[in-house]
Amino acid sequence: VNQVNGVKGLADLGLESVPNQYIQSPEERFDNGKIVSEESIPTIDFTNWDDPEVAESIYNAAIKQGFFQIVNHGIPIKLIEDLKAAVHRFFELPVEEKKFLKENTPSEFVRLATSFSPHAEATLEWKDYLQLVYASEEKAKEYWPAVCRDQAVEYMKCAEVFIRRLLKVLLKKLNVKDMDKAREHALMGAMILAFNYYPPCPNPELVSGVGHHSDISSITVLLQDEIGGLYVRASNGDGWIYVPPVEGALVINIGDVLQIMSNDRYKSIEHRVVANRSKTRISLPIFVNPAPDAIAAPLPEVLENGEEPKYRQLLYTDYFKYFFSKPHDGKKTIEFAK
Ligand code: SIN
Ligand code: FE2
Repeated sequence: VNQVNGVKGLADLGLESVPNQYIQSPEERFDNGKIVSEESIPTIDFTNWDDPEVAESIYNAAIKQGFFQIVNHGIPIKLIEDLKAAVHRFFELPVEEKKFLKENTPSEFVRLATSFSPHAEATLEWKDYLQLVYASEEKAKEYWPAVCRDQAVEYMKCAEVFIRRLLKVLLKKLNVKDMDKAREHALMGAMILAFNYYPPCPNPELVSGVGHHSDISSITVLLQDEIGGLYVRASNGDGWIYVPPVEGALVINIGDVLQIMSNDRYKSIEHRVVANRSKTRISLPIFVNPAPDAIAAPLPEVLENGEEPKYRQLLYTDYFKYFFSKPHDGKKTIEFAK
């Protein structure tokens, strides 16, 4: 199989069936019968983000489903549309113009990849992605690909303002009064923007767009297009809730780090992506991660009343490396922190 251009390269060949290495075992395949339609993810208006009622809605979603959508987040809709167009432009570049971003990537700030952790996976996922590390505006401007650089940098600048506000709301509900530099380092000291690209798949029922997993971020801020395909574990623990595309909305989920810091109050919920037979889907997560040298552990504010910590002190870089050393495996990563 020619993997030079990832699954996009395969889709462009017009294959009638997927190569064997993409075929998931029957247990791993998505079962439409498991879709739960009685439960849904709330959509929250962030206009008055400082309002206690808004904080209450966010808190309730964070302790129950771990997922919610946000409208009126403050990021201009025009910028979002321009960014989505730029993502398509990037992936539609001729193979020769983006090949170098794979093996000989010019910096640690940009990398083109396929699947999740191909070196560790027996079965590959039906996804290509561009990973953009947001170390600073200067570095981004220097190293991110020209076809999408301006839109991606502008998006991250706006998103950062929103992310600070959202973390402030989530932390306040955990009795953390102010967000100083140390807290920022421990919650959002490293941010990664990814462009996920899911081309049409001839056998969507046999493959995983993304296998089920929970994120290892503090929070993830996801922009998805109008195609759909994201499912979140239902409260019954067995079924899956569809996350419908909502125009102009961002999908937020609590990651393992906030579950650890909140000593299990906030929930980092499993999710997965189902491939599409006829359409290309894109999604753009921002992984809001602790800095590599930050320690993740239950917050003293949460343990104030003598509660036992459920997790050990963990160097974030160790957690990050552990996650990528294995295939997606549901909610197992967090066991490493116990
Ligand atoms: C992911 O969770 O890894 C991807 C989410 C999406 O594409 O909707
Ligand atoms: Fe995820």
